[in-house]
Amino acid sequence: MSISTDTVEKIIRQAGAIAMAQFRNVNGLAVNKKSARDLVTETDVAVEAFLHQHLTEHYPQFGFWGEESGQSADQTNRWIVDPIDGTHSFAKGQYFWSISVALEIGGELEFGAVYAPALDDYYFAVRGEGASRNGHKISVSDETSLAESMIATGFACLRSYLTENNLARFARIAEITTGQRRYGSAAMDLCLVADGQVDAFWEQELNMYDVAAGALIAKEAGGTITDFKGNNGVFPKQILATNGGIYDELLALM
Ligand code: IPD
Ligand code: CA
Ligand code: CA
Repeated sequence: MSISTDTVEKIIRQAGAIAMAQFRNVNGLAVNKKSARDLVTETDVAVEAFLHQHLTEHYPQFGFWGEESGQSADQTNRWIVDPIDGTHSFAKGQYFWSISVALEIGGELEFGAVYAPALDDYYFAVRGEGASRNGHKISVSDETSLAESMIATGFACLRSYLTENNLARFARIAEITTGQRRYGSAAMDLCLVADGQVDAFWEQELNMYDVAAGALIAKEAGGTITDFKGNNGVFPKQILATNGGIYDELLALM
């Protein structure tokens, strides 16, 4: 690995402290709309600026792609960052939001970290070395029946402009499972699959910065990551992450 995971964790936790300070006074925060239903707060911008500065200072050899500031000139090897995944939850004072940081080298995800400051949960994975939460190894659940499963999903903020908005798929799957959740942070949803807290997660119309870190974490914890047709890989426009045991049953309903 060409980075120190300790150094990167320190930077991400510092970014988390900035976000938490603003979260404690969330009612005083400026919330703007990038478009109808697509929110951005001053915290999103501040956290991304902090990560950009410090990751680039320590690792000038890598480019940077952040949701709020866009892509640096060199994107061959790059950090992929969502400064606040779950901005709507954050702006409402809810706890399920996260900072998502991945490192992609030559098209391959090598490192992923998702930090949920309000829960103080730090998930990370290095390709080929497994995944952990707060220093303890984690793995996906061993559930094999969709009927016994708890599944998470999400709904794109721009869903009303989509011909396919996930509601029919949700209704189809919710009829069968024991539980469904909508946590509001795709990065965290993937970590919950990794940790066996839910048995699967799917969403459509996401972007790479929403899922890059979480997908590596779920994969390293033993999960399967495909699109809705069963192609292996990280496809943000159609991502299905499962524990493997309920994969066939769920894939058939996508
Ligand atoms: C959102 C979250 C949410 C998902 C939305 C995303 P943002 O990211 O991941 O869970 O359902 O589709 O846009 O906008 O809070 O960074
Ligand atoms: Ca996001
Ligand atoms: Ca975001």
